[in-house]
Amino acid sequence: MIIKTKESASWLIGSVAGVCTAVAMAAVGVTWWVVLIAAALVFVGVSLFALWMIVKYVAYKLRPIYSMVLSRDIHTGDIAEQLKDRKVDDVSADLSSWAEDNDREIARLKEAEKFRKQYLGNVAHELKTPIFNIQGYISTLLDGGLEDEVVNRKYLERAERSVERMINILGDLDTISRLDSDMNQMRAESFDMVALCKEIAEQTEIEASKRDITITVKGADSLPSRCWVSADKFYIGQVLENLIVNSIRYGKDGGTTKITCRDMLDKVLVEVEDDGIGIAKSDLPRLFERFYRTDKGRSREQGGTGLGLAIVKHIIENHGEKVSVRSELGKGSTFTFTLPKVQL
Ligand SMILES: Nc1ncnc2c1ncn2[C@@H]1O[C@H](COP(=O)(O)OP(=O)(O)OP(=O)(O)O)[C@@H](O)[C@H]1O
Ligand SMILES: [Mg+2]
Repeated sequence: MIIKTKESASWLIGSVAGVCTAVAMAAVGVTWWVVLIAAALVFVGVSLFALWMIVKYVAYKLRPIYSMVLSRDIHTGDIAEQLKDRKVDDVSADLSSWAEDNDREIARLKEAEKFRKQYLGNVAHELKTPIFNIQGYISTLLDGGLEDEVVNRKYLERAERSVERMINILGDLDTISRLDSDMNQMRAESFDMVALCKEIAEQTEIEASKRDITITVKGADSLPSRCWVSADKFYIGQVLENLIVNSIRYGKDGGTTKITCRDMLDKVLVEVEDDGIGIAKSDLPRLFERFYRTDKGRSREQGGTGLGLAIVKHIIENHGEKVSVRSELGKGSTFTFTLPKVQL
């Protein structure tokens, strides 16, 4: 016989006591109705006492676990009170779910710790290269290069480029840490998305012209457009700048970058499409990670740190929206994001 509840265990003990009493009294010749009453009284009394004892015992055993789960001292009486109208099974289900929550939290913390270590390692690695370069140029200049007319200018210019690179990295890191802190709230305002795309495209024109890349913004000829959004204009400007500069850096000479804003019910969908080198399928899932670059050599040569897309993702997600990418190696890439539309 399987005893599943504290009540059935108590009744079993009570029944055994009642039967024993009845048998003993019958053996000494007590009248049958007295035997019956005595057996019933013993059954009720012993069952109640057994139930009380079981609850006390279980509560006593559960006390350290409850104190640990709730992080405070718990009295046996409080647990016994709760056990009166609850099954022990419910308590163990509660504890299992608490343990699962704890396991999940520990896994999350371990992941965060791993990420932090990797992040710090990457930051150090990225800063090391320009710092060592600067050190090398200065040493060469001090070792006589300063007097050499050809060398001194060239090395100073190279040192300046390394300093610029460090400034870029620090600027990106600063943006990321500002976006990471909860204090940073996006300041939403209404603005014409097509006009902003045009403005940022114009700012990147010099860089695009170096590679003979044409940037087009669809719908920019009839401003104001229908694509008004509610978002943080400064940060969305940064998103566009990152995506457009990428389309130039990883584009092809003489290529085209097409920027399109689409009016979609309550959202505006923005697309930045290039016909450049494209991205391999295997790289796509990690593309928005901090410091991830598909081709480290090429990216670094172009002054990239691999933080641009991480910043883009952060900004769009801080708006409660999503950014995604479609790409084919050798054919080009399209980055897409949405923003809440303002009904005009
Ligand atoms: N339009 C694109 N076409 C092809 N590859 C791209 C494109 N945009 C990004 N990538 C790849 O994704 C990587 C990450 O881009 P991300 O913008 O984050 O970094 P980055 O351009 O290297 O440096 P930065 O921090 O200066 O932006 C790039 O190094 C490049 O390999
Ligand atoms: Mg970039």
